[in-house]
Amino acid sequence: MKKYFILFHILLISLVWVACTNENKQTVAESEQSQIQKDTAAACNKPTVIMDPNNAKPMALMMRQMVVNMDKMKGKLIAGERVTEKEFPFLRFYLVEPTDPNVLEPKFYENARLFQESYKQIFETKGLQAKAYNATISMCINCHQSYCSGPIKRIKKLLIH
Ligand code: HEC
Repeated sequence: MKKYFILFHILLISLVWVACTNENKQTVAESEQSQIQKDTAAACNKPTVIMDPNNAKPMALMMRQMVVNMDKMKGKLIAGERVTEKEFPFLRFYLVEPTDPNVLEPKFYENARLFQESYKQIFETKGLQAKAYNATISMCINCHQSYCSGPIKRIKKLLIH
């Protein structure tokens, strides 16, 4: 009888042990999963441009370059200068790897196309370049409202008032 009692306890302890280790495995997998999701979101949740070229994907780097370029363009337009496409060539950001490959869907490419059309207008317009420039910045914001809302505050600073 005592033997059964001990056996029963060994069985019970090992059952509890198996249950616990399984549970641990599951929570590790779950936390890895949520970490991946957080990382993807984090790429777009930074409100300002943070220079960490080692961790950034080509699309993020190109976006940072666009901020630099548009800032420079803004300065020239405010100073009353005319800007040319030769000086500010279009960056084909939609051809390079993003942090989150899920963004590469038809709506993203449509936004990119509209943005590119608007960008060309800055140089082709017979009217005020500053007005066409602001329209282009609105297209940045448009796409960012769907795909990457973190930098919107930064992008709005590019508008000419
Ligand atoms: C067609 C959609 C689209 C358009 C248009 C667009 N963006 Fe982006 N932008 C994105 C996506 C998607 C990311 C995330 C890229 C990544 O993490 O790889 C991003 C990232 C960024 C970032 C964050 C980069 C970083 O540090 O990680 C900035 C800043 C930015 N964009 C500025 C701009 C500006 C300025 C314009 C317009 C001149 C613009 N974007 C136009 C989709 C767009």
